[in-house]
Amino acid sequence: MRLVNEANLNGSKVLLRVDFNVPVEDGKVVDDTRIRAVLPTIRYLLDNEARVIIAAHQGRPKGEGYEREYTLAPVALALGEILKMPVPLTHDVLGMQTTADCEALLPGQVLMLENLRFDAREQENDAEFSRELAALADVYVNDAFAASHRAHASIVGVTELLPSYAGFLLYREIETVHRMTTRPERPFVAMLGGSKVSDKIGVVESLLDVVDGMVIGGAMCFTFLVASGYSVGTSLVEPDWVDWAKETMQKALDKNIKIMLPIDIVTASAISEDAETSIYSIDSIPDDQMGLDIGPATAEAYGEYISEARTVLWNGPMGVFEIDKFAMGTRKVATAFAMNQKATTIIGGGDSIAAINKFGYDDLVTFISTGGGALLELLEGKVLPGVAALE
Ligand code: 3PG
Repeated sequence: MRLVNEANLNGSKVLLRVDFNVPVEDGKVVDDTRIRAVLPTIRYLLDNEARVIIAAHQGRPKGEGYEREYTLAPVALALGEILKMPVPLTHDVLGMQTTADCEALLPGQVLMLENLRFDAREQENDAEFSRELAALADVYVNDAFAASHRAHASIVGVTELLPSYAGFLLYREIETVHRMTTRPERPFVAMLGGSKVSDKIGVVESLLDVVDGMVIGGAMCFTFLVASGYSVGTSLVEPDWVDWAKETMQKALDKNIKIMLPIDIVTASAISEDAETSIYSIDSIPDDQMGLDIGPATAEAYGEYISEARTVLWNGPMGVFEIDKFAMGTRKVATAFAMNQKATTIIGGGDSIAAINKFGYDDLVTFISTGGGALLELLEGKVLPGVAALE
């Protein structure tokens, strides 16, 4: 994979694919983490007198043209404010006016194409769409780590048509995960949470080849608890994965990998701000109660274990942390994770990042991945199509 600093940029038009799929509310970007993560590449291109054409997507529009809900206008505005320079947005993704706008760009200037997914051909990796995109530029740079698991035209197709390079973020994401999974400092502990165990099957299986231990929280722990013989009331369980959970725990035992499951649980009768909460040991969860956070004894034990690790990967919250009543477990493990300054700490997934931001620990983490699905696929050991295309 060639890195952007190997490209001849002076005066070149650079098609820079980024992942600016960020939350927007009332026309304003509410979390600019993904935008800021690409700044090193954008600044490098601008400092080297490139003419920068940013290509991005937002949400999942129908692919039949402009949809106000998915315009990149708020994102262009936010980027302009950060860069302290105008970032005009093209009216259409492609077309005569867009071509003219790109032609008129001067070295050191930047513009953004409207949401690529307004044209269905983007997601189809359509050859003609790739050709039209490539015709806008002389050089292609992919810094869209979080979208590189998608074999789309702006991620894969264009690489066959232009000299192609990896941006600094893409490179750092891949390198960080590679280092963590091939030569981690030990002990290496994975903290896994989130609601669905079925989303994490591949990740758990791959991690069993590298970690020394796993702590499991979030609703996904209930499938493991059922596999261990406990009744979990009305908690979220995926019955289809109970046998898998049983086998996984056996595999871990055979490999001498510690899997920690909750010993107590915070429950309520429903997910609600004004629900009455209780704490139960896992062998006495009433039939009408739903587990919504790990309990205090569990949080304590998880925290201690995480504090002793030298590499920690965190993906998925321990409970419904958005509601304060169910945030204790996530807060406790987030504290142990962030305060462990002897460890390399890596966090990925929108919810865990939202949690670390909420608790104000983001500056203490070694690496915050911008990838959701892309990170999971990488952790599963898959080669991302966008990365393969650059190699
Ligand atoms: C993401 O947010 O994970 C990426 O932008 C990919 O989005 P997608 O799942 O809609 O392809």
